[in-house]
Amino acid sequence: MTKVLAVAASARRDGNSDAVLEQALEGIRWEAPQTEVEMLVPYGLPITPCRSCNACRNTGRCVVQDKMQEVYLKFSEAEHVVVASPIYFTSVPGHFKVLIDRFQCFWSRTYRLGKPPTPRRTGMFLCVAAGDSERYYKSTLALVRAWMSTFNMGCPVSRFYGGLDEKGDVLRREDYLKDARQAGAELIQLARAKAGR
Ligand SMILES: Cc1cc2nc3c(=O)[nH]c(=O)nc-3n(C[C@H](O)[C@H](O)[C@H](O)COP(=O)(O)O)c2cc1C
Repeated sequence: MTKVLAVAASARRDGNSDAVLEQALEGIRWEAPQTEVEMLVPYGLPITPCRSCNACRNTGRCVVQDKMQEVYLKFSEAEHVVVASPIYFTSVPGHFKVLIDRFQCFWSRTYRLGKPPTPRRTGMFLCVAAGDSERYYKSTLALVRAWMSTFNMGCPVSRFYGGLDEKGDVLRREDYLKDARQAGAELIQLARAKAGR
C-alpha cells in the first residue's frame, strides 16, 4: 500500500492547481493502484503562524497546540507528499507559508539537537501561475525544496504550468493535464527505482 499525502495549496477549490493535482494522483494510481490518498487543504485551517519562541530548540517539537499537531501526523504517515500550489506574489499563498513555517521544529530537531532525521520521503511540486515566465517558479521551488528538506523529503519531480489565471483555464490545456499525469507516474517509478523494487 502506497500512502500519499496530497496538499492542495490554493485558496480556490477546483481551480488550476487542484486540477493538475488530480491528474498527478491519477498518474500515481495508474502506476500503483493500491495507493491510499489523504487530502490536505491548508486554506481555512486554524493554524497559528510560527511565533519564533524557539521552544523547539530544546525538544524538537512544536509547543503550539493547534490543528498543526494533526497536520504533523498526516505528514509522518505519508510515504510521498504531492503539493500543488499557485504562485501568489512570486511565492506560495500565505496560508500555506504559515504551515511551512511550522516545520521549523524539524529543522531544530535535526540541526540544533542532532537527532536522526525523520524517515526519507519523496516530495513532488506542481506549480501554476498566470504568468509564463519561469523566474518566480524557480524561487518558489527553492522555497518548497528548503521546506521539504527539513522533513527529509527530496523533490525529484517538479513542474511549472504557466499562463493559467481564470478557474478552468487548465482544462483547455490537455498538454498540461497529460504532463501532470506523467509526473505522478514518474514519482512512483523513481521511488521504486530507489527502493530497488
Ligand atoms: C493573491 C494572488 C496573487 C497572485 N500573484 C501572482 C504572481 O505573482 N504571479 C503570477 O503569475 N500569478 C499570480 N496570481 C495568479 C494565480 O497564480 C493564478 O490565477 C493561478 O492559476 C491560480 O491557481 P488556482 O486556480 O489553483 O487557485 C496571483 C493570484 C492571487 C489570487
